[in-house]
Amino acid sequence: MGFYSEDIVGEIRSRADIVEIISEYVSLKKQGENFVGLCPFHSEKTPSFNVSPEKQLFYCFGCGAGGNVFTFLMKKENLNFSETIRLLADRYQIKLPAGKYDREISRDFQQRRELLRLNKLAAQFYHNVLIKTREGRRGYEYLIKRGIKTDTIERFQLGYALPAWDGLIKYFGSQGVDIKDLQKVGLVIPRKDNRGYYDRFRDRIMFPIEDVTKNIIGFGGRIVGAGEPKYLNSPETPVFSKGENLYALSMIKKDPEIDTIVVEGYMDCITLQQSGFTQTVATLGTALTQKQARLLKKYTGGVVLAYDADSAGRTATLRGMEVLAKEGLNVKILNLPVGKDPDEFIRKKGRDAFEELLAEAMGLVDYKLNLAKKGLDINNPEGKLRFIRKAVQVLTEIESDVEREIYIQKTATELNIPEQVLKEEIKKIKFPNNGFKYKKSQTRDNNKEFSKISPITGAYKAERMIIKLLIEDEAIREKVIKELAPSMFLNERTGKIAGVLFKMMQGGEPVTADSIFNLLDEDASSELSAILMTDKEFEDDDLVDPLVKKIKENYLKHAIKQVREQIKKAEAVGEREETIDLLNTYQKLKSQMNELKANLTSEKGGV
Ligand code: UTP
Ligand code: MN
Repeated sequence: MGFYSEDIVGEIRSRADIVEIISEYVSLKKQGENFVGLCPFHSEKTPSFNVSPEKQLFYCFGCGAGGNVFTFLMKKENLNFSETIRLLADRYQIKLPAGKYDREISRDFQQRRELLRLNKLAAQFYHNVLIKTREGRRGYEYLIKRGIKTDTIERFQLGYALPAWDGLIKYFGSQGVDIKDLQKVGLVIPRKDNRGYYDRFRDRIMFPIEDVTKNIIGFGGRIVGAGEPKYLNSPETPVFSKGENLYALSMIKKDPEIDTIVVEGYMDCITLQQSGFTQTVATLGTALTQKQARLLKKYTGGVVLAYDADSAGRTATLRGMEVLAKEGLNVKILNLPVGKDPDEFIRKKGRDAFEELLAEAMGLVDYKLNLAKKGLDINNPEGKLRFIRKAVQVLTEIESDVEREIYIQKTATELNIPEQVLKEEIKKIKFPNNGFKYKKSQTRDNNKEFSKISPITGAYKAERMIIKLLIEDEAIREKVIKELAPSMFLNERTGKIAGVLFKMMQGGEPVTADSIFNLLDEDASSELSAILMTDKEFEDDDLVDPLVKKIKENYLKHAIKQVREQIKKAEAVGEREETIDLLNTYQKLKSQMNELKANLTSEKGGV
């Protein structure tokens, strides 16, 4: 494969299982031979994204994106091929020969690698200080006093940053690291007078923050002694963004059937996990963002928000619920006693009490209805009326018909009024013009999703079929090379695939789907994935001849038409020589067409 040795690419390919890699981005469910999930490349509510473990390919029936594991990472992480090779080699600890693989790696990518390496070294340093050094006892004792066990310290790779201004700088000083990189990743800060740098984190318990692929992207640090702020986080860096990651997400199970607990603090998260609630993550000192909700959606089907019960916590809860519900996550709210966070609650009341709270956690609708009721006496008519108005708003917003029915029933019973009353009110809000309902935007969106895929008929279908046969059946290759050329594939994408495929066949290189994928652009690789994953009916070798003819015929038809137009133009401007050349070409094409037609008719009985 030209530039990259077949061995290295092959080894990486065989280690990087497509289901494993894609699972880091998409929650996949087994369905028949494939895994399916929500497409990460377009927004959808029902899964049309397919991953085939057997073929090691992915394909989305919604937007047409497809390819192999390399294509996926390139598209998802916005990397070039060399960078993808490098990323996977790092991950599977495969040594790449120096030099040639570095050539196409962008500065950004190299920078990212270096910053992640520094974070990892820093995390190891802080962890060692905590568990192995005398100076680190201060941090260790703090954690033990807060009920954190030794194996929890290990599990979360907790560390301690020394009170000194240069603990980390000294450590890295002996390692030949560019201090500018330490600054970029937020571990050191330049002094005001520009004379040197100092450590960002001092006298703090260090919480390394991982992304889903277990890179350490940043840190949270809690002060041990007195000092401000209580928690200090890494700043936004090229590898760290608070609103796009969640603490401990890389540690939880990916299972749509298990609810995930979301808390606000590192310590809440760690204490809950230590107490057996291992499906817990924490936000990183900001309100829950849509990006975080989307991340969560890949791991879980439902979220229990366990925020502080103070008024700030309540506002955060309401906003968080909306954000999560918008992603289609089932949301429940844990009712913590005022003034307690999950960590304090567990340490005072124990894990069983928390388990009870979890069991009583309220759904989104109940929570909203409860909030609507706050301060109103529904036993007096006025309070009742005001509650009905608010409740109707809440009920109207419920999307699922079944769920709405259930809550209408429940509310009606509670208020002791007929369900019909609520239904009428809801109708008024929902369909202001007499119930006429036209879902314009929705239909349009759906059409857009599918318009990218052209109908598969005629010559285009033949082009796809022959590509599939060529990849899967070595026996037909020789014959087809003689008959066809890539230029005869008139569809732009199949043309690109044929270009790569024919070159490989002619060069006597081993033809594998992966080796082709790695030389295709995004559109063509989606096309190839579609061909290999979706075109099931192309399995009969006897089809080769008619397919070849179909493609040739279509090509000749177009070529003849084109030449005819060129002749007209050339004649019009009096280009005699060119006209003669074109006429010759025209004759050649015509006779090829006649020959083809003759063959077609003579064979017709057999087709
Ligand atoms: P809290 O102030 O609720 O603290 O911050 P906590 O989690 O109960 O901490 P402990 O128990 O006293 O150790 C919750 C989260 O808000 C962010 C951090 O992510 C913290 O975990 N935070 C808080 C900051 O980023 N900076 C701060 O100064 C305080
Ligand atoms: Mn706390």
